[in-house]
Amino acid sequence: MDGDRQSRLLIGKRVALGVTGSIAAYKAVSLLRALTKAGASVSVVMTKAATKFVTPMTFEVLSGQAVTTDLFEAHHEMKHLSIPEQADAIVVAPATASFLAKAAVGLADDVLSTMLLTTRCPLIIAPAMDGDMWTHPTVQEHVGTLRSRGAIILDPEEGPLASGQIAQGRLAGEFRIREAVEQALLPRLDFKGQRVLISAGPTQEAIDPVRYISNRSSGKMGYALAEAARNRGAEVTLVTGPVSLPVPAGVLVIHVTTAQEMAAAMSAHFEWSTVVVMAAAVADFRPKEVALHKLKKGAQAAPTLELEPAPDILAMLSAKRTSQILVGFAAETQNLLAHAQTKLVAKGLDLIVANDVTQKGAGFGSDRNAAVILSRTGEQQPLSLRLKSEMAHDILSAIVQFPRTIQGTNSPTSVS
Ligand code: CTP
Repeated sequence: MDGDRQSRLLIGKRVALGVTGSIAAYKAVSLLRALTKAGASVSVVMTKAATKFVTPMTFEVLSGQAVTTDLFEAHHEMKHLSIPEQADAIVVAPATASFLAKAAVGLADDVLSTMLLTTRCPLIIAPAMDGDMWTHPTVQEHVGTLRSRGAIILDPEEGPLASGQIAQGRLAGEFRIREAVEQALLPRLDFKGQRVLISAGPTQEAIDPVRYISNRSSGKMGYALAEAARNRGAEVTLVTGPVSLPVPAGVLVIHVTTAQEMAAAMSAHFEWSTVVVMAAAVADFRPKEVALHKLKKGAQAAPTLELEPAPDILAMLSAKRTSQILVGFAAETQNLLAHAQTKLVAKGLDLIVANDVTQKGAGFGSDRNAAVILSRTGEQQPLSLRLKSEMAHDILSAIVQFPRTIQGTNSPTSVS
């Protein structure tokens, strides 16, 4: 492997290095050196037990950053959230049997284990322990659980252990760990060859030249999807209602105002597309007549607005689909799953992302969202509260994993 080429992958990347209480903790010092030398910015998080083997000061001096050890101190500065949120990858080396158990069951009783529950970035775990512990069925079960969730586990190596035993238990070599981090940071290109059509934002339906009917959609979810699909190699067309978000680079953006215009733009690009995601909050009704001039208060009584249905874009696209994968959203305020399931069937969708827009900290305008993805084939995937940029990747991964496999893509990748 070309060392220089690999090194460049870490330049500017943020890595959280978790160190747990194994005698191999001293090797994490050298790993930290290797990662920083390769250009990564490394935040070290230690368990209490790890501090018995190596002092936080050692990591602090070498990383140039404060080391986090205490959940309550970390809580004060919200480090259990900020470190993983900013990290491009988390590496736990060495990882003890106790750490694997906590990570597998989601026990969050220290900073490191708490961090794992707040992040979706790649997780690389390099266990180190006594040989009998490593082969114990409980440990192996935890390793299996973590792997099934997408964690990259570097099996320990065979050799002389601190116990005097010669067995499999030594921490993976520094080169292997660094290489695993670099591999995990390589861009995923599982949408290469796909043409993805996405709608975003609200529509505005004119009442008169100065007034309109609209909704609270900010467009953030649709824009995040467009960026994520572009980053995963897709050719992306984004049809957007009026929002105040910067236009994503490398994406064809079509600006529309009304549901009618959105329907026309989506129809025009539908045949071209292989995947269609309707993240827009389209008006269901529009004024039957648009006043040519501003409605005046004048002497007359309050006017009555007569409404008519706006086109249901998804239903319309669904009726003329050929092989496109169709994904809708269901913004609900009650009976989330039941309403979403009805829409999934009624609009002939493959997947629907159901979100409860009344949930605190999620939905319209927020940077975060919580949802459940329902599939036509009956699967349900709950997505707890997370950044819309992360949710965008989860939705794309659900699309890749959908049974009507996207032709021409790489095999499905798991989301970590
Ligand atoms: N949608 C659409 N055209 C419309 C309304 C909605 O294509 N005129 C799409 C949305 O983009 C979304 C899905 O249909 O992907 C569900 O939208 P939602 O507003 O949740 O449901 P509605 O179909 O509008 O039904 P209701 O208002 O009864 O909840």
